[in-house]
Amino acid sequence: MAMIKANDQQIELSDGAPIRDACEELGVLFGCREGLCGTCMIDILEGEDNLSELTEEEVAMDRDREHRLACQTKIKKGTVTINFDKF
Ligand code: FES
Repeated sequence: MAMIKANDQQIELSDGAPIRDACEELGVLFGCREGLCGTCMIDILEGEDNLSELTEEEVAMDRDREHRLACQTKIKKGTVTINFDKF
């Protein structure tokens, strides 16, 4: 079992699951869902090693291990704490 945390909320996920739906539930905004628009940018505060490798789309958007696209990222295991801008 894996977990995504943001502020005082947390959502459980299966190991290896995409984090998109959990992030959306936590309030992250999404646009294209294909790694093209940059709407879903999140900061990883803790647990970056528990996430999948950067995708080509993330690299093209100058993302790094601490700054990901929520639509492109999977959680391998464990707990990841994120931060994001709320509009
Ligand atoms: S929703 Fe467009 S890059 Fe993630």
